[in-house]
Amino acid sequence: MKKNRDLFLIALIYIVIAVTHIIVAMPLITGLLIIALGAFHSLTYIGSTFRARKEQEREKRELLKSLNRSEARTSETKTQFYSLIEELGSGVLFIDAWNTIQLANKEFLEMFDYEDILKTPMSFLSRHEKLYEVVKSAIQEKKRIRSQILINDTSIMDVIVTPVFDSGVYYGSLILVHDITALKTAEQFQKQFTADVSHELKTPLSAIKGLSEILTRDDNVEEARQKEFLSIIKNEASRLEIIINDLLIISKMDRLDYELKKEAASIEHLINETFEIMKPLAEEKNLNLSKDIEPCTFHFDPSKFRQVLINLIKNAINYTDSGYVRITGHRTSTHYIINVIDTGIGIEQAKQAMIFKRFYRVDDARSRDTGGSGLGLSIIKNVVKKHGGTIKLESALNKGSRFTIALPIQSQGASNHEA
Ligand SMILES: Nc1ncnc2c1ncn2[C@@H]1O[C@H](COP(=O)(O)OP(=O)(O)OP(=O)(O)O)[C@@H](O)[C@H]1O
Ligand SMILES: [Mg+2]
Repeated sequence: MKKNRDLFLIALIYIVIAVTHIIVAMPLITGLLIIALGAFHSLTYIGSTFRARKEQEREKRELLKSLNRSEARTSETKTQFYSLIEELGSGVLFIDAWNTIQLANKEFLEMFDYEDILKTPMSFLSRHEKLYEVVKSAIQEKKRIRSQILINDTSIMDVIVTPVFDSGVYYGSLILVHDITALKTAEQFQKQFTADVSHELKTPLSAIKGLSEILTRDDNVEEARQKEFLSIIKNEASRLEIIINDLLIISKMDRLDYELKKEAASIEHLINETFEIMKPLAEEKNLNLSKDIEPCTFHFDPSKFRQVLINLIKNAINYTDSGYVRITGHRTSTHYIINVIDTGIGIEQAKQAMIFKRFYRVDDARSRDTGGSGLGLSIIKNVVKKHGGTIKLESALNKGSRFTIALPIQSQGASNHEA
């Protein structure tokens, strides 16, 4: 705009000079006009150069600003990318087109026990033969491979190798590794549990089926035999009922949304109540059942804990042939401690850790006689654990056992008074 105006002015002055010279032919005026024209030219030139430089500087500043902005954006994206890779919870590795390791996150290094493998050839992975094999064949064949491998005989890893192409050109391979050991262990545990449940249910069911078939098919079974068979059928049916009830309790407790119904309750009341329930069973076996309980009121789930006490005292009576079963309870500054002590058959050291596992019985025949399914202690342990407490066992073969439960009383406060 400004330039057009300048050009127009110059053209006008030239026309004025030409016209003046032609009409007037006055050298002085023409000279003056030429000087004025020169001065105007110079001024216009200086002005436009100054303006152009100013414009250039402004453009430079804008360019610098946008460069800074894009640099900040790049560094922000880079930070986000690296923190995402570090926090992914899975191992990440990138091997470029020249088979050099260009990226390895902390998780990957920890999983495979590497110090630093950046910029090393991928053959460095050969320390873990199985991992190396999967990565090498995916890179050679340039195709995605997913494989589950066992590392150090303990961990199971899910490895996914994906070749990356940019406009058809091989760029490198991305390796993702997930530790699925816990998942596989849970899966294995579930399979074992289902097999155990089927086995446990099959035994009483076979007895019921076999005996009832004899009774319906054979009219000549003696009355005494009939009664015996019916009694076995009744016992096996009760056994089935007990197992199914225990399984229902277990499956309820295994649910993620399972919650205890805690309330301020008197532990002394609860122990006294279960003591009275179990008394006839102890009398039947001529066992001395005694107790020494310090009162305390704190928050726990009374209904679940009632089951815990019944199961523990029942075990003590079932696995004791002579002597006594004693229940004690006292409080410390942080816990309420319950002991169930018996002078029974005891459990040898090597088997003590196993007895809290589902369906485990030290002596199958003896436990079966008492109707035991081997689920009692696993339920007890689960309930105690859900209360934030612990259960431990001290036992000596043929001398007796002592189960000790410690329940935290502090979180919601506790008192020595009755609720
Ligand atoms: N007080 C005890 N003295 C000796 N052995 C015990 C005692 N308590 C438990 N056991 C052993 O631990 C095993 C597991 O006990 P647990 O209570 O889980 O199952 P169970 O008594 O066999 O059956 P149930 O599921 O009906 O309780 C028992 O079979 C028994 O061998
Ligand atoms: Mg039991």
